[in-house]
Amino acid sequence: MAAPAGPGAVVAAPDRRRWLWPLLAAALGLLTAGTSALEVHTPKEIFVANGTQGKLTCRFTSANTTGASTSVSWSFQPEGTDTMVSFFHYSQGQVYPGNYPPFKDRISWAGDLDKKDVSINIENMQFIHNGTYICDVKNPPDIVAQPGHIRLYVVQREVLPVFPVWVVVGTVTAVVVGLILLAGIVLAVFHRRKNSKRDYAGARSSTRS
Ligand SMILES: *[C@@H]1O[C@H](CO)[C@@H](O)[C@H](O)[C@H]1NC(C)=O
Ligand SMILES: *[C@@H]1O[C@H](CO)[C@@H](O)[C@H](O)[C@H]1NC(C)=O
Ligand SMILES: *[C@@H]1O[C@H](CO)[C@@H](O)[C@H](O)[C@H]1NC(C)=O
Repeated sequence: MAAPAGPGAVVAAPDRRRWLWPLLAAALGLLTAGTSALEVHTPKEIFVANGTQGKLTCRFTSANTTGASTSVSWSFQPEGTDTMVSFFHYSQGQVYPGNYPPFKDRISWAGDLDKKDVSINIENMQFIHNGTYICDVKNPPDIVAQPGHIRLYVVQREVLPVFPVWVVVGTVTAVVVGLILLAGIVLAVFHRRKNSKRDYAGARSSTRS
């Protein structure tokens, strides 16, 4: 029993990392395959300028078909707290926006069950909406899943790296004008040189004759 382990260990020791990773991946694969066929996919974090609409994207994969029994709950965990409030629910093809004050009259359904998409939009986002959004999907009988977590940052409108149209247009115009000027100067210099040569040649020939 100990004899086969000996040479194995000696061989494995130098490149332990090479076989460790596939092994870990396989173990992880077995673990997740055993616990869940329903997988929820969300972005990890998003940035939304205050006063604008934020889209909370959430999609899922499931072996079972979607239908009336498919449901999603969206919860909110404000920044710096560990309390979670469910503020939106979708089931039986119905939208239940709830009446949790921070989200009242701001939520609209942006999902499409045929595409296994359960996203929502939030209008007029403010700094109180900073926090973590949790997308919890059930697609019976496929109900075991890790909910998706999105860390959402509401930022000052100016902070977002947006380039106003006039800046882009201005820059492009400046570059184009600059290039034209440069080309003009180059052409002018070239032309002048050619002309001065010709003048010189002409002058020489005129003095000769
Ligand atoms: C965004 O926040 C700033 C700072 O609080 C505020 O002055 C501005 O009015 C807000 N913009 C919108 C559209 O809510
Ligand atoms: C759900 O999917 C599993 C795995 O594909 C399948 O065995 C089961 O029959 C499906 N159930 C329904 C109700 O579609
Ligand atoms: C919201 O997040 C922004 C950006 O991370 C931060 O500057 C701001 O202080 C936060 N506001 C609140 C009320 O948590």
